[in-house]
Amino acid sequence: TRKFVVGGNWKMNGNKKQIGEILDFLKKGPLNKDTEVIVGVPALYLEHVQSNAPEGVMVAAQNCYKAEKGAFTGEISPQMLKDVCVDWVILGHSERRQIFNECDELIADKVAFALENGLKVIACIGETLEEREANKTMEVVNRQTAAIACKVKDWTNVVIAYEPVWAIGTGKTATPAQAQEVHKALREYIAQSISPDVAASIRIQYGGSVTAANCKELGSQPDIDGFLVGGASLKPEFVEIVNARQ
Ligand code: 13P
Repeated sequence: TRKFVVGGNWKMNGNKKQIGEILDFLKKGPLNKDTEVIVGVPALYLEHVQSNAPEGVMVAAQNCYKAEKGAFTGEISPQMLKDVCVDWVILGHSERRQIFNECDELIADKVAFALENGLKVIACIGETLEEREANKTMEVVNRQTAAIACKVKDWTNVVIAYEPVWAIGTGKTATPAQAQEVHKALREYIAQSISPDVAASIRIQYGGSVTAANCKELGSQPDIDGFLVGGASLKPEFVEIVNARQ
């Protein structure tokens, strides 16, 4: 059985006041103890949130680099994250891929390096609208997964987030059937290309316009093991999303 895992990706949002309000609704909860909860925090606030988050809420960075230290202006390393007691990192988000031109290979290097240095990783994949309309959804999602599989052998500390780009921040959620179809096909691809054991145990989150209103139906699909939530993770409804599966 795969433990339900819900991440809140704050992206480049929040200030000290707003973060205080988010921590307040997380503290108030109540959060289902059977669900893992991870908040993805802007780098500058990681330590503050790590120190002030309620027990059981884990903290993730939204990116990190593939080297320990050196002349990489603006970057942070997995070792730095560990140094401030951050155990998770989100890598390969579609905004990193599209706005910052991160390619499959760089993302795979980052995932491998983060894992080697003791972080747990939420690795994001997903097709664009153009790719979906060209019937290339599985080709893209499998390719993005295969790139990571070239460099990662132990998948224990990896969660995959399937986030169709057309559903991110658009209010156009994938239907439960659309999401389940991709999650199921991806799990089959993992069974063939990696191993049946990894396919059975790896958690695959859905992300893209998840809200309190649509989370229950999405969360009841057999191959959806949690969510990666953007906009709604900044609001009290995030608690309801965490509790989607009771
Ligand atoms: P929204 O929930 O705002 O659509 O964002 C999803 C996302 O990108 C989470 O990483």
